[in-house]
Order: sequence, then structure tokens, then C-alpha cells
Amino acid sequence: MLLVGGLGLRLREQMCAWLEICTMAVLQLLLPLMVCSVAASERPPQHLPACQVVQMDVFCSNLSLRSAPVDLPQGVRLLDLSRNQVQNLSQETLAYQSGFQHLNLHGNKIHFIQPGLFKDMTDLRVLDLSRNHLNVFAHSKINIGPLTAVESLDLSNNGLYTGMSDYFLADSPSLVDLSLNGNSITKIAHNTFSGSSSLRRIRLHNNVILEIEDGAFEVLDNLTELDLSKNSITCITNFNLCNLKVLNLSKNSVELFRSATTMVFSLTHLDLSENKMLYFPLLPRFNMIEHIDVSRNHLQTINVTGGLEKRTQVYFNHLKYLDMSYNQLKSIPESFFHCKDILEVLNVSNNCISSFSITNPGLLQMVKIINLSFNPLQSLTFGENTLPSLEKLFLQGNDLTTLEHGIFQRFPSIKHLHLQQNNLEVCSLKHEHQDCVSFSSIPNLQFLNLSENNLMILPANAFTNTSLKLLDLSLNPGLEMDKDSLSGLEHTLIHLLLKENNISSLNTDLSSLKSLKHIDLSTNQLTNIPVWSKDSSIESLNLQNNNLVTLKYSSMLALEHSLKTLYMGSNPLSCCSNLDFLQMVQRSAVVVPDIEMTTCIHKEYSEPVNIEKVTNEMCHISGSQNYVIVLVVIALVVMIVTALSVRFCQARKRKHIRSFNA
Ligand SMILES: *[C@@H]1O[C@H](CO)[C@@H](O)[C@H](O)[C@H]1NC(C)=O
Ligand SMILES: *[C@@H]1O[C@H](CO)[C@@H](O)[C@H](O)[C@H]1NC(C)=O
Ligand SMILES: *[C@@H]1O[C@H](CO)[C@@H](O)[C@H](O)[C@H]1NC(C)=O
Ligand SMILES: *[C@@H]1O[C@H](CO)[C@@H](O)[C@H](O)[C@H]1NC(C)=O
Ligand SMILES: *[C@@H]1O[C@H](CO)[C@@H](O)[C@H](O)[C@H]1NC(C)=O
Ligand SMILES: *[C@@H]1O[C@H](CO)[C@@H](O)[C@H](O)[C@H]1NC(C)=O
Ligand SMILES: *[C@@H]1O[C@H](CO)[C@@H](O)[C@H](O)[C@H]1NC(C)=O
Repeated sequence: MLLVGGLGLRLREQMCAWLEICTMAVLQLLLPLMVCSVAASERPPQHLPACQVVQMDVFCSNLSLRSAPVDLPQGVRLLDLSRNQVQNLSQETLAYQSGFQHLNLHGNKIHFIQPGLFKDMTDLRVLDLSRNHLNVFAHSKINIGPLTAVESLDLSNNGLYTGMSDYFLADSPSLVDLSLNGNSITKIAHNTFSGSSSLRRIRLHNNVILEIEDGAFEVLDNLTELDLSKNSITCITNFNLCNLKVLNLSKNSVELFRSATTMVFSLTHLDLSENKMLYFPLLPRFNMIEHIDVSRNHLQTINVTGGLEKRTQVYFNHLKYLDMSYNQLKSIPESFFHCKDILEVLNVSNNCISSFSITNPGLLQMVKIINLSFNPLQSLTFGENTLPSLEKLFLQGNDLTTLEHGIFQRFPSIKHLHLQQNNLEVCSLKHEHQDCVSFSSIPNLQFLNLSENNLMILPANAFTNTSLKLLDLSLNPGLEMDKDSLSGLEHTLIHLLLKENNISSLNTDLSSLKSLKHIDLSTNQLTNIPVWSKDSSIESLNLQNNNLVTLKYSSMLALEHSLKTLYMGSNPLSCCSNLDFLQMVQRSAVVVPDIEMTTCIHKEYSEPVNIEKVTNEMCHISGSQNYVIVLVVIALVVMIVTALSVRFCQARKRKHIRSFNA
């Protein structure tokens, strides 16, 4: 592998050397200070009870320990001393035990390791030394001695510079997994890994690697995964690590990737995202590549290496995933898809593609997802019998105005269509005019987003013969929906979004949509709510920001048994004409997430009243107190009437007697 670092390599090395001298000087100054603070804060060794013991595993994380507990049981297999205060790693700090299989020393302050400490630890497989101060130890230029059995070594975040890893790796014959993430390595020398020839995975994420010497990785016959992401690599001109399967070069400054080896090439995953690639990577003619990510680069063409040489066809017989999103591609000729027979995912979103077409039915037979979102796409053509496996098509944020009206009926497997932010029109069942797209008779279609399309009209039966579960028609202000526009969706539609459509009255019958559970009618001009029947299954209803004054109580009552969430804020509701409804909300378990904004208007109050505070009395409707008064009044009236009638009778009797007397 030949790697060319950027300019300024010399300069960087000089700076590093200089920095090293500085650090040493600072350390010499600091060391006495450090010793003082050690003496001051020395505590007696902690005892075991603070740790958790599970069989032969001991967990002592985050206990401010300077060493392992003195009474560590014999035969501990796993010791977790992470996030403590260990500074000097020695037999003493490990309680003179050596039978460990797994030692976790992450997040301590280790700046010294007793040489030869791990020599006799013949069971030690996993050693985590991440987030310590091993750069200080490396300055002493002492080798830690053999890592006899260690298979996994984590040296990440230790401030290690170029060459410092040598003191840890010189004699580690069993090492399989190595992490050097988050250090300050600028160069990988040809002999860096010569003492660790069993390595399979090397992580060098987040260093400042500019240069990799010839032969550095070639000695590693078993190397299958190499993570060089987030470094400063600018160019890879002769990539020949034939056993490598995963190569991550994401977040470098790579402009060119070339590999023209004729040896068997095993690479399956190549991540070149967030680089400065100008051309498509050049891969060997026969390769195993399955996954290529060249998103967020500077590709303007799908050509390799700018036509520097005429090349024969590269076969991508294993390629399943290709991400070329966030580039500057202007077009992708159909021929690009030749020899990519099993491609499943194609992401070319966020490019400059104005026209895309697949007419050859032999191409892209296996493709399931195509993402063409955020392009200036004006023309889209798919021939008969193309894309038989296509399930999801993303076309968000393009300039699509006219499409062949039967274009989507061509795809027998299509489930998701993301067409938001275009300028499409929906055809009626009879295809009356030319410039429209038909959405009926797409049997597997479940998800359709048509928001922000300047839709004016939604004709009758627009979606019959589909399996639509979700339909988003939001942000089409002025949309006129035919009263039968949703017919055919009675038993499938679950989500319906109609927000920001400036609808003043909904003439489409929603009560026949028996499966409908979630409906968003927010930010319209509704003065009435739709009519629902008792068997509706609406669970969430959004009526925020409309013109609702009086809600039809019978309609709301029909939702009482199914409704779980209701948005009502920003409506000019009347407090007293919705009293029954407001009391229904107050006593039911319906959640009103925007309750703070949900107010009603009462003529006797200058400010809107929160609906939770509305009472019968406010609306002068007899409450229980009034009831007593009324009873008292009635009783009084009855008493008065009785008294009067008694008087009257007596008077008449007297009169009678009087007359008898007469
Ligand atoms: C570390 O500990 C060992 C053994 O306890 C001791 O001999 C050595 O001097 C210590 N080193 C430092 C740098 O503290
Ligand atoms: C490559 O590394 C980046 C981190 O920098 C990570 O997000 C990405 O998932 C890695 N790619 C692969 C294929 O592992
Ligand atoms: C491209 O699309 C694929 C598949 O849908 C997705 O997994 C990937 O995250 C997308 N890439 C970017 C950069 O968004
Ligand atoms: C398609 O691309 C857009 C824009 O890059 C992205 O937001 C969306 O998540 C992608 N779709 C998938 C399924 O990855
Ligand atoms: C439809 O697309 C719009 C973007 O214009 C997005 O905000 C909305 O969430 C999408 N709808 C659904 C249900 O995902
Ligand atoms: C529904 O689709 C079937 C089969 O594709 C077709 O025979 C039928 O005429 C379609 N019905 C309507 C109303 O379009
Ligand atoms: C919304 O509808 C009203 C009439 O109901 C109309 O006056 C207004 O212009 C419309 N606004 C938009 C943005 O379409």
C-alpha cells in the first residue's frame, strides 16, 4: 500500500518533536508536584465490599481506588477497575494476582506500567488501558514486555504519538484486536505491527495519520478490518491489502482511491464517505465488494480517475449497497448499472441530477430502495418491466411536474412513495388530462407522501385499488378534495395528514374510513369538525389552529370511546356553547398535549379561559347550590299557596255558616 501524505509533513514532524521536548520539560516541572499530591491524597486500600462480586468476576468501577482491593478473592477472572485513580500499574496494584482473563483499566491515570507485568498472565485475553496517560510511560522508552496471551488490547485516548505504540506492541503474538483510536499518531511505520502479526482488526479512528509506510499492513496476513476514519489521508494509489474485508477511510481528505491489483481481492466494505473524491473509486476488475459509501464527496462524474486510462469493465457482481448521496453528479448513465446485478440500495440523493432513466428491464432487477431525493429532477423514465423488486422510491424535493401517468403502476412491489416537495397533479380514475400521475391500482402501495405539491384537486377514487395505510396531503393550500376522493381506502387507511391546507370545510366523508386512527387537520380554517359515527376508531385527532367556535357535541361524543389524544389549541372556542364537550374532556382520560394553549372565549372574561377551568357556574347553569335555593323557593311557594288556599277555604266556610245563619 502506498500512501501519499499532504504537504507540510515535515513541518508536522518538526512540530511534534518540538512538542515532545516541551512536554518533557513540563513533566519535569510537574513531577514533584504530582508526587506531593499523591502523598497528600493517599488513602488506605479499599476493601472488597464496595466492589460487586459475581462468581469470579469483580466489578470495582468508579470507587476512587488507587489499586485493587487488598482482599481480592483468589482466582479472579475478570477485574473491572475502570474509572478509578490507578497511577502505577504493578503487581501490587493488581493484588499480586495473575490469573486474570479480562482486565479493565479504562479511565484511570496510569502513567507507569511495571515492565514484564503481563508476562506471566497466560490467561489474560482482554486488556483495556484506554483513557490513561500512557504517553508519559512511552517517554521513558521502556517496553511493557510480552503480552503473552492478550487478544484484545485497547490503547485508545492515551495521547500516544507516532512510534509510541511500539513499546506496547513489540511482543504481542496473540493480538487480534487493537484499538489506537483517539491518539495523535501521524505516521504508521513499516515495522509498527511487526511484533503483532496475528492482528485481524486495527482501529486508528481519530488520529492525524498523513503517511503509511509501504509494507506497514502487508505483514498482517490475517488483517480483515482496518479503521482509518477521521485522519488526514489524501490519496491511496495502489491499494493491495488483498485479505482486508472492511476498510474505513471516512472523514479523511482522500481525493483518489485506486487499486488495480490482479490478485484475489477480498474487500467487501469500503467507506469513503466525507472525503474529497473527484472520481468514483477504481477497484480491481474482479472483486467481492458489497458495500460502497462515497457519500459527501466531490464527485461530478461516475467515471473512474478522470479517463487517465481506458479501462475494461469492472464487475460488481457482489455489490448490494451504493451510496453516492451528497455529491455533485449531474447524471448517471444507464450503462453505469451494467454488471451491478444484485444491487439492492442506491442512494443518489442530494446531487445535481436533472434526468434519470432506466429502460432496460435487465438492469437493477434486485433493487429495493432508490433514493433520488433533493435533486433538480425534471424527467424520470422507467420502462415496462423494469425494477421488479423496487419497494421504496424517494423523490422528495425535486422539480417533478409531469410524469407519465401510469409510471408507478409499473412497479409490482412498490410500497413507499415519497413525492413531497414536487409539483405533481393527481389523475382521476379516467385519466382525463395529460399532466397528471395516477395513484390508483398500485396494489402494494402503503405509504404515500404528497405534501407540498401545490395540489389543487383531489379527484374521486384517486387511490382505489391500493393498500394505503398512510397518506400525507399536507401543505397543499387550497386543496379541493372530492367527496369520494378517499373511497377505496375504507379498510386500510390508518394515518391521514391534511395540515396547512387552508380547508374551511371538509366535504369528504371520513366516517366511512373504518381503520383510520390518526388524523391531522391542524392549521386549516375549519369551522366545523367532521362527522363521525359511533364505530369510529380515531385515537388521535389534531384540530390545532383552526376556526372552531362550537364543536358538534354528538360528533365528539362518537369519539369518546376510542380517542386517546386530542390537540385543540389556538381555536376561538366558545366556553359556554361547548360546555358538554369541555366537561367530557375534563373527566375523560383523553390526553391534551397542548393543554396550555387550549383556551376558550367567555364574554365576561377579558382573557381567554383555559378549558380546564371552565365550570357550569361560569355559564350561569344551575349547579348544586342553586338547586337548594330553587328547592327552598319551591317549598316557600308551596307553603304560601297552601296557606292562602287554607285561608280561602276558611273564609268560604265562614261565609257558608254565615249564610246558614241567615
Ligand atoms: C511503581 O510501583 C513499583 C512497585 O510498587 C515501584 O517499584 C516503582 O518505583 C513505581 N514507579 C513509579 C513511577 O511510581
Ligand atoms: C466508518 O467510521 C465512521 C466513523 O468515523 C462510522 O460512522 C462508520 O459507520 C464506519 N463505517 C463502517 C462501514 O463501519
Ligand atoms: C442513503 O440511503 C440509504 C438507504 O436508504 C441510507 O441507509 C443512508 O443513510 C443514506 N445516506 C445518507 C448519507 O443519508
Ligand atoms: C433519502 O435521502 C434523504 C436525503 O438525503 C434522506 O433524508 C432520507 O433519509 C433518505 N432515505 C432513506 C431511506 O435513507
Ligand atoms: C411528508 O413529507 C414532509 C416533508 O415535506 C414531512 O415533513 C412529513 O413528515 C412527511 N410525512 C410523513 C408521514 O412522514
Ligand atoms: C383494481 O385492480 C384490479 C386488478 O389490477 C382490476 O381488475 C380492477 O379493475 C381494479 N379496480 C379499479 C376500481 O380500478
Ligand atoms: C385561504 O382561504 C381563504 C378563503 O377561505 C382565502 O381568502 C385565502 O386567500 C386562502 N389562503 C391561502 C394561502 O390559500
